[in-house]
Formats: sequence, structure tokens, C-alpha cells
Amino acid sequence: MARAHEAEGLTALVTGASAGIGVDLAECFAKDGYNVILAARTESALREVAERLAKTYKISATPIAADLGAIGGGTKLAEEIKKRGLSVDVVVNNAGYGQAGAFNGSDAAVQLGMIDLNDRALVELTHIYWPTMLANKRGGVLNVASTAAFLPGPLMAIYFASKAFVLSFSEALWEEARDTGVKVSCLCPGPTVSKFRERAGTGATRISRLGTPMPSMSVARMGYVAWQNNKRVKITGLRNRVMATLAPFLPRATLLGMVRNMQSPI
Ligand SMILES: NC(=O)c1ccc[n+]([C@@H]2O[C@H](COP(=O)([O-])OP(=O)(O)OC[C@H]3O[C@@H](n4cnc5c(N)ncnc54)[C@H](OP(=O)(O)O)[C@@H]3O)[C@@H](O)[C@H]2O)c1
Repeated sequence: MARAHEAEGLTALVTGASAGIGVDLAECFAKDGYNVILAARTESALREVAERLAKTYKISATPIAADLGAIGGGTKLAEEIKKRGLSVDVVVNNAGYGQAGAFNGSDAAVQLGMIDLNDRALVELTHIYWPTMLANKRGGVLNVASTAAFLPGPLMAIYFASKAFVLSFSEALWEEARDTGVKVSCLCPGPTVSKFRERAGTGATRISRLGTPMPSMSVARMGYVAWQNNKRVKITGLRNRVMATLAPFLPRATLLGMVRNMQSPI
């Protein structure tokens, strides 16, 4: 990737930048000359990523520990960013988690926490920085959804619904930002190598046996390039694109049965 002059002096805030896709998204921005602010809960991991990116790409990288699943977590993070005299031009809403299993008997705090992180914090951060982006006519938002956004997800219902929200919200913002100079993209990865599976418990479901997960850097690069080009939605991988394209044409009950089958324990 060539270093882009348009990035000089601009800052990208990347959430979930302590592991997985978020680390690689931060690297894509840093490589192109963006300064980065890295947010997640694990401060030690953030510090390591920040040191590596700053040294390798000669940019400023600031780690800030933040629990974005806590109500008001986005506002608290923005206050900390302001206190440090930093500004934000691009918001990369990547932090998120899933939880496999039936809705019945699930832990309410885990289910609601998913909405708080995957949706609420994403909206909160976008809402905080959106007016400045529009006023400056630059920067934008890169939201990380999932191929789950295109389907209802029996046996992982809240995660699928939370990602459908991200996709719908992102596409609407893309339209609202038309001709403003502000870019909006929604990255929709399929299975990707990261810590996601460990936390979600999807390693023990049938879908985990279908194909090989993509490397997180390939996924991040696709998302970054899509954002640079203001591409509304980027689905990673041919099989995932075919699935997302065909899903709306299948009878809904058939589709629900297929997803339930894939999400079932092995
Ligand atoms: N991997 C996949 O197969 C896949 C597929 C489709 C979509 N996605 C989406 O991709 C995004 C990134 O996930 P990943 O695959 O890279 O998973 P991951 O390796 O588990 O990384 C998740 C990141 O989110 C952060 N995070 C989790 N809870 C947080 C909280 N309460 N506050 C702040 N940060 C928090 C984690 O850091 P801390 O634990 O340090 O807080 C970590 O940096 C998610 O939105 C996920 O839904 C993943």
C-alpha cells in the first residue's frame, strides 16, 4: 500500500485494537500515514500494538484502555481523547463479540452486553465525531459488521441481529454522507482467524467445519481499501458474497432452517 498524502496529520480511532481484525485495521491506517488511537480493555496489548505501529510506520499511536460495553463508554473514551489534546477524523468501529447458543437459558448480561458493544457504543462514537467529519468534509466511519448481518441467526440470535443493525445503520449513513467528502463503509467478514471464536463458542458448531477462516490481515486490508473508495458494503470472500447475495431470494423458513442447522453443535 503506498503512503497516501491525504492521510498526513489525520487520526483514526480504532476500537477493538488489542487483538484480531482491529490490530490489522489499525496497521492498515498506520501504514498509510494515519496517526492512530487504539481502544479496547486490555491496556498491555494495546500498548504493544501502539509501540510497534509507531516505530514501524513513524506515526503517533496512542493506546487508551476503555470498556465500550459499559453504558457511556464511548463518551468516556471521547472525553479522554479530548483531554489528551487529540482529535479524531476516522472512526473504525470494530470492537464486538458474539455468543453461540439458544436464546432460552442464555445469560441476559451477555446478550444485552453484545447490543451495548456491537451497536450502542458504535452509534455513540459515530454520533460524537460525525458532525466534525461533515464540517471538515473529510474522514469517515468504517463499521465492522459480519456476513451474519444478512441473515436471521437461530442459535446466535442476538449477534446476528446486532450485526444486521450495524449494516442497516452504515448503509443509511453512507447515503446521508453522499457528496459531503465523508466516507462510510461497512465491512462484512465471514469466519476470520482471531480470538472471536474462542469467546463466541462457535468452534463447536457445524459452521466451524465449513471452509478455512480467512487471515485477519486480508480481511482488514479489504475493509481499509473499501473505506478508502467509499464502498458502501464490503463482504470478504467469494463464498460469503454468494451467500449474502442469494439469501434474500430463499424462502425465509428454508433459510432459517439452514442457519439453524449450521449453528447447531457438532
Ligand atoms: N472473527 C470472525 O470470524 C468475525 C466474523 C465476522 C465479524 N467479526 C467481527 O469483527 C470484529 C472484530 O472481532 P475479531 O474477530 O477481531 O475478534 P477478537 O479477536 O475477539 O477481537 C475483539 C476486539 O474487541 C475488543 N473488545 C471486546 N470487548 C470489548 C469491550 N467491552 N470494550 C472495548 N473493546 C472490547 C477486544 O479487546 P479486549 O478484550 O482487550 O477489550 C478485541 O480487541 C467484531 O465486531 C466481530 O463481530 C468477526
